[in-house]
Amino acid sequence: MQADLLLKNGLVFTPKGIIEADIAVNEEKIVKIAKEPNTPKSEKTIDCRGKIILPGLIDPHVHFRDPGETEKEDFYTGSCAAAAGGITLVADMPNNQPPTSTVNAFKSKVDEARSKAVVDFCLYAGCGSKNISEMVGLAGEGAIAFKTWMYLSSPYSSLLSVRDQEELIQIFTNASRLDMPIAVHAEDAEIIEQATKLLKASSRKDPLAHHESRPASAELKAVRRCLEAAKKTGATLYLLHLTTKDAVEEVKAAKSLGIKVFAETCPHYLLLTEDYILQLGAYAKINPPLRGKDDQEALWRALAEGFIDCVGSDHAPHLKSEKELGQSDIWCAPSGAPNIEVSLPLMLTKVNDGVMTLSRLVELMSTNIAKVFNLYPMRGIVCEGAIGSFTIIDLKVEYKIRADKLYTKARECMLFDGWRVKGRATHTIIRGAVAMEEGVIAGSRGLGRFTPRRLSR
Ligand code: NCD
Ligand code: ZN
Ligand code: ZN
Repeated sequence: MQADLLLKNGLVFTPKGIIEADIAVNEEKIVKIAKEPNTPKSEKTIDCRGKIILPGLIDPHVHFRDPGETEKEDFYTGSCAAAAGGITLVADMPNNQPPTSTVNAFKSKVDEARSKAVVDFCLYAGCGSKNISEMVGLAGEGAIAFKTWMYLSSPYSSLLSVRDQEELIQIFTNASRLDMPIAVHAEDAEIIEQATKLLKASSRKDPLAHHESRPASAELKAVRRCLEAAKKTGATLYLLHLTTKDAVEEVKAAKSLGIKVFAETCPHYLLLTEDYILQLGAYAKINPPLRGKDDQEALWRALAEGFIDCVGSDHAPHLKSEKELGQSDIWCAPSGAPNIEVSLPLMLTKVNDGVMTLSRLVELMSTNIAKVFNLYPMRGIVCEGAIGSFTIIDLKVEYKIRADKLYTKARECMLFDGWRVKGRATHTIIRGAVAMEEGVIAGSRGLGRFTPRRLSR
């Protein structure tokens, strides 16, 4: 047998533990996991001595801004950043201009992204009160999940958000019928609007005012409303970027009742607390906002206990000039920070610190996400027959994050510049092809493939 790629002498992360073996990939799939002399010959070989071969990591939550705001990021730069950070597959959010909330917008986004992507990609379909009738068509185009906000200040909010509980239930009902997960940015509109009004009336413009405008109670109320809708409709709920102890408690209770809910958090909520807002100003303006130590500790506990299922970067690039506007008036800056390239090294540092195990990291950044998106076991696991995408890591290398070395266009907005980390991806392999090697992008535009949702029935 001849293979396209042979990963030699690596430590292979398998469901049975880490084993020393070679992996052969042919025609995009893993054809053999074995030791010499049982490994096939190959066109290309990578020596993985001392490195660990993980199933290809997946980032379930990115905003690549393409189409519409490509000055902030585009599918090429965003996916280069993904490859550099060891991410083999991204799921891109629909808050584009125009939003990915109609069949036409969806199709043209697929075409555009296909011509630029260096890593594989899935696309969310936007869902709001004014495009409920598009849901069937969007599912047919292969959207990986629906995405809705419960509060969004955007000219397109009616195509991306629902405020009313009945409408929320209607969307969940449709998602359930279409056998698609529904991902929600869970922060309640009324609570945010009331708090914002009061803060603005007292002339608050400092960075903490934004934080105060989105209290934990807004997340709690929204999470409760979503769980109620999931319970009523049987829909699979994916709660994006959870930040609070209270929300996590609700998820825990819902899981014990058998409600189909999966929870995500992000590296910035695990590593930064609200005091960073004073230091970083508008750069740390993110929705939901950074929280206190108590909430952060609860997130780590939930992560260890399995009540948080996934870690996504919520890679949300913005222009430095826009962020700077917020330094004198926080309401003028957009929310979000660009993290896709540093998620893995930040989380590997926690593995090295003994805060979490490597197995848990793989579940959170690959296996569970593949399960939520119905891509498992073709992805999210290293086994014969699965897709030959891998994240090869060096767990021992220590270095400093340098914002100026990043591939994202939003490198000047990097929150973790100068942080010391231990562990990083040395290779990102996409279906047997090298997308990144030792920090250098080796894949070209178009290597990444559109990955539609596989229907389970
Ligand atoms: C995101 C963005 O900029 O698109 N911003 C953010 O603060 N997280 C939107 C979002 O994830 O809600
Ligand atoms: Zn969000
Ligand atoms: Zn987001």
